[in-house]
Amino acid sequence: MSRIPTRIDWVREHCRLLRAISAEFARTRPFDGLTIGTGIHLEAKTVALLLTLRDGGARLVSTGNLNTTQPDAVERLRAEGITVIGAPTKDIRVQAGYLDEVLAAEPDLILDNGGDLFTTYLDRPYQGLLGGTEETTSGRMRLEPLRDELSRPILVINDSPIKQFAENEHAVGQSSVESYLRMTNRVTHGEEVTVFGYGACGRGVAASFRGACARVSVVDVDPVTRLRAHLDGFATPPRDAAVAHADLIITVTGARDVLTAADLPVLRDGVILANAGHFPAEIDAAGLIGAAEVSGTQEYAEDVLTLELRDGRRVHLLARGHMFNLAGPRPLGNSIESMDLGFSLQARCLEAVARGSVDAASCVVPVPASIDAAIARSYLDRKYPVTPR
Ligand SMILES: NC(=O)c1ccc[n+]([C@@H]2O[C@H](COP(=O)([O-])OP(=O)(O)OC[C@H]3O[C@@H](n4cnc5c(N)ncnc54)[C@H](O)[C@@H]3O)[C@@H](O)[C@H]2O)c1
Repeated sequence: MSRIPTRIDWVREHCRLLRAISAEFARTRPFDGLTIGTGIHLEAKTVALLLTLRDGGARLVSTGNLNTTQPDAVERLRAEGITVIGAPTKDIRVQAGYLDEVLAAEPDLILDNGGDLFTTYLDRPYQGLLGGTEETTSGRMRLEPLRDELSRPILVINDSPIKQFAENEHAVGQSSVESYLRMTNRVTHGEEVTVFGYGACGRGVAASFRGACARVSVVDVDPVTRLRAHLDGFATPPRDAAVAHADLIITVTGARDVLTAADLPVLRDGVILANAGHFPAEIDAAGLIGAAEVSGTQEYAEDVLTLELRDGRRVHLLARGHMFNLAGPRPLGNSIESMDLGFSLQARCLEAVARGSVDAASCVVPVPASIDAAIARSYLDRKYPVTPR
């Protein structure tokens, strides 16, 4: 390569499954003549995925999600001839305009993250949409009630066991600790950390902060899940006690208004609030900032907003409630290998829809088990290659 290698080159180099699929797709061309519309975080690992789809013959029309678009990823994709719509934004109306532009290209396949593209499609449908994929839990929750209207194959990557353990559990936990350290430079040892939500992501976040010697408590609305957290060795105090004692509170539930201005009276001085859930609705940032108790705000560091309360307490909000593990200075997101696995599922699922090997009854359903098994085998084969004796 004549130009100086970048972080994106490092990532692509280490997306070994995607590189192997790229080489195969260059021969088999599953997307020849097809347009794929994508709405997913535009960062280094996504570049590797989109280039793999491009190598399979796809024309790509891509945009990012709220607050996570990385300029170097956009620049690289454009240099590779991929149509990228928009720029980084935290504004939901601006983002809606980008989604409209993607759908104006009338893509044959949609790669969605959070259900934005499929729900927008239902508002203004067009002929010829074959189906596609949805990446995340939050998107599956939005699309499930719309199955009858969507009625085409849509495979939910999130519901693959591989995505559950490799990304949601292991990688989100690890990247949450990494992002907390990178954004705040604060200690984890001995700190009281409260995690809202003990699904796959919450389990990983709780375990990773415990691994970083924090004292972790878990809040979950589901008593069975709370019991699981208890038996996993976490404290499970009543919600309000957990909020009142925390030095760091992380929401990762997929629900709205998990933390609101109503919590301000009990928050500890110096508490840090962060959200790792997909939508910036888990912490009501606007409600907190505009609350009567707040006398002013201060932006101390990149993506750290401090609320100054009239009684002298200070509350720090990371990324204004947007997903903090893809925010702050030099955001890295989840580990390369976890995303290589998840995005290989994406590539294979889109291939299955393009080839018509899944039918309309497979609407908002998990990844076929045969694809999971093939991806798992290929990861392990690369880790433990068979060497001739
Ligand atoms: N940050 C990332 O990189 C990343 C990666 C994957 C998924 N996600 C997102 O993280 C979120 C959680 O995903 P998941 O796979 O763990 O979901 P999940 O459905 O497995 O678990 C969510 C948990 O939150 C609990 N919960 C719901 N409302 C609650 C509330 N008000 N208070 C406390 N607990 C509540 C539920 O009972 C459940 O146990 C989703 O928005 C998902 O899209 C983020």
